[in-house]
Amino acid sequence: MFGRNNGSITEDAVMQALSTVQEPELHDNLVSLNMIRDLTVRGEQVAFTIMLTTPACPLRGQMEQESVAAIKRVAPNAQVQVRFDSQVRGDSRIAGKLNIPVKNIIAVASGKGGVGKSTVSTNLAVSLALDGAKVGVLDADIYGPNIPLMFGLSGKPRVENNKMVPLEAHGVQVISMGFLMPEGEAVVWRGPMLHKAIQQLFVDVRWGELDYLIVDLPPGTGDAQLSLAQSTPLTGAIIVTQPQEVAVSDARRGAAAFARLEVPMIGVIENMSGEIFGSGGGQKAAQLIGIEYLGSIELDPRVRSGGDTGKPIVVEAPDSAAAQSIRTLARKIAARISLLTMAPDPELRII
Ligand SMILES: Nc1ncnc2c1ncn2[C@@H]1O[C@H](COP(=O)(O)OP(=O)(O)O)[C@@H](O)[C@H]1O
Ligand SMILES: [Mg+2]
Repeated sequence: MFGRNNGSITEDAVMQALSTVQEPELHDNLVSLNMIRDLTVRGEQVAFTIMLTTPACPLRGQMEQESVAAIKRVAPNAQVQVRFDSQVRGDSRIAGKLNIPVKNIIAVASGKGGVGKSTVSTNLAVSLALDGAKVGVLDADIYGPNIPLMFGLSGKPRVENNKMVPLEAHGVQVISMGFLMPEGEAVVWRGPMLHKAIQQLFVDVRWGELDYLIVDLPPGTGDAQLSLAQSTPLTGAIIVTQPQEVAVSDARRGAAAFARLEVPMIGVIENMSGEIFGSGGGQKAAQLIGIEYLGSIELDPRVRSGGDTGKPIVVEAPDSAAAQSIRTLARKIAARISLLTMAPDPELRII
């Protein structure tokens, strides 16, 4: 009978069964994607590991169920043990250019300030860390470097062998432009000065082995975006916008800047959705720009108080709708990054 050998299922039959199971985000089957590892078959006992492309995988429950069902179709008595592990795929251009052990760099941008870019950067980073990823945040906002505050960090990083050691909170490594700026002084950095400072935040920092480094950019479409894109390959960019109609054109400008720099767009997040500002701006912006609408984050005073006290809402009020939305968005973004790093471009491969 098919798939049976001395009354028990064969490894080949298991692999064949698993080749009918789709990775829902990556649009291919688990076998073609080389995600099945350490398969063992002993009598009716089948065990294997599904190697995910991110620990923040949104649909592992679904994959587990479908895998078990597919095997049971050919071997109804099989006892199936599914383990999960993950190996984040990396954008190998980064290591090539910067010599830092960072697999993916994600820019978070907006057309204008005050839309919640830093809030989103912080909570996305903490969400990915909660899912088990190794994450850093680079705060490149020269106008308002408030990422340390949002993480509850104060003071400056140590310097070891001429490199800054990132501060750490909520499992995330943090470096801020604020650390390079004289205390209490408004600095207007442009052109070469700004470019040098942004470069320093990559190469003069002892970044750990990170799956994702999230860069919080200053608002707008100017020097900082250009410097960032010149300093390092960017795996992708996210645009944060507000629900109101007027925000749409800002978002559009923000995205256009990255398109010119040939940075892949991951999508648009609408922040502060709800009764006060309404909703729909994010979707509209995504449609006009021609990129994906990733979802929205509710307006919730706890998001603000969390930011002010260094306790991101995903930690402080994990059951709130806003926190849940952010956790979902983080997983979606992780899945999109996996897709981007699977592109047939030979320069983009697993590291
Ligand atoms: N979803 C939200 N609900 C309530 N307040 C928010 C939300 N997102 C951001 N805020 C608040 O709005 C203000 C601006 O957010 P911030 O992240 O600093 O914006 P940006 O970095 O774009 O300038 C902050 O006080 C922040 O706490
Ligand atoms: Mg900010």
